[in-house]
Amino acid sequence: MRVAVLLLGLVVVCSAMAVTEGFNITRILANHPEFSTFNHYLTVTHLAGEINRRNTITVLAVDNSGMAEVLAKHLSIFSLKNLLYLHVLADYFGSRKLHQITHRSAVVSTLFQATGAAPGTTGFVNITNLRGGRVGFGAASEESNEANLESFFVKTIDDVSYKIAVVQITKMLRSPIAEAPTPAPNQYNLTLLMAKKGCTVFANLLASIPAVETAFEESVNGGLTIFCPIDQAVKAFEPKFKNLTVEGKTSLLLFHASPFYMSLQMLKTQNGVMTTLATDSYKNYNMTAQNARWSPSRRRPAPPRSPGR
Ligand SMILES: *[C@@H]1O[C@H](CO)[C@@H](O)[C@H](O)[C@H]1NC(C)=O
Ligand SMILES: *[C@@H]1O[C@H](CO)[C@@H](O)[C@H](O)[C@H]1NC(C)=O
Ligand SMILES: *[C@@H]1O[C@H](CO)[C@@H](O)[C@H](O)[C@H]1NC(C)=O
Ligand SMILES: *[C@@H]1O[C@H](CO)[C@@H](O)[C@H](O)[C@H]1NC(C)=O
Ligand SMILES: *[C@@H]1O[C@H](CO)[C@@H](O)[C@H](O)[C@H]1NC(C)=O
Repeated sequence: MRVAVLLLGLVVVCSAMAVTEGFNITRILANHPEFSTFNHYLTVTHLAGEINRRNTITVLAVDNSGMAEVLAKHLSIFSLKNLLYLHVLADYFGSRKLHQITHRSAVVSTLFQATGAAPGTTGFVNITNLRGGRVGFGAASEESNEANLESFFVKTIDDVSYKIAVVQITKMLRSPIAEAPTPAPNQYNLTLLMAKKGCTVFANLLASIPAVETAFEESVNGGLTIFCPIDQAVKAFEPKFKNLTVEGKTSLLLFHASPFYMSLQMLKTQNGVMTTLATDSYKNYNMTAQNARWSPSRRRPAPPRSPGR
């Protein structure tokens, strides 16, 4: 549901590389019926896909009664997604690491933090080792890292090669910010979002081909990342663009977006091949993102090479 509009400052090239064999949170939780509600909402919010794409991660899961407590609040699916984001730590915390926190307490960033929608420290979870070997969890407050430690470690559900941990906690964390009403995706105006980032010319190109505009809008629900080239770059490329066939233009524009949400931070940590809106069963219009040294004063961002002819 979230949209990332990123300026092309990263090196983006076409290539076809092997897919890395990932893990599948849906399958892991499917073996544990007591987490079926939590699992269901990871799927309907499309969070499962985001989790599966991460390399080191910890999922704080609650059982069906814990979820029932949250569902009783009748949050919109979008607010619920934010709350679930807060339950995915952007680092590995297996049982051993949880019980041996350096200085007994740590503040860990979550995928809620990565959405950019979490003000102050609200995207962080405070984990504290308590007396008697208990491990407490709480959402950091807006002003400080201190938290009401009201949820506790229960057990490890799964631990994949010391990189991915799925652990049960007693109840969902509470966060007024994550639970606050949030706009539904169709309230996002992509043209406006891109214009704000200096991509007006690119936005106008999208709007000039209705099939492309529709494809972008329809992808927002499942998460979307747009790599929008700045006006200067698009203007320089426009004469060539005008020469392309409609199919060529369509592919090129669709190539500038990936059908899942990635913040800049996520993109930096999870380099590799990703599909684009232009990828289909015949067209290998995948994109590869890689970290690179980049000096804005010497090099200018340019649109990636046309995937088509
Ligand atoms: C993950 O597992 C579920 C259930 O087995 C399956 O429906 C889904 O397609 C899998 N996802 C991926 C990305 O393999
Ligand atoms: C976590 O919260 C507890 C309880 O409010 C607080 O005492 C502790 O200092 C916090 N931890 C960190 C690292 O800020
Ligand atoms: C989005 O914003 C632009 C610029 O303000 C406006 O022209 C357009 O009608 C808006 N689109 C939608 C779907 O609201
Ligand atoms: C556009 O196509 C025409 C005819 O094929 C060619 O002469 C011209 O150089 C092309 N312009 C650009 C900018 O590629
Ligand atoms: C790239 O695109 C092809 C063709 O559409 C697709 O079959 C393949 O799975 C993609 N590869 C990766 C690594 O995403």
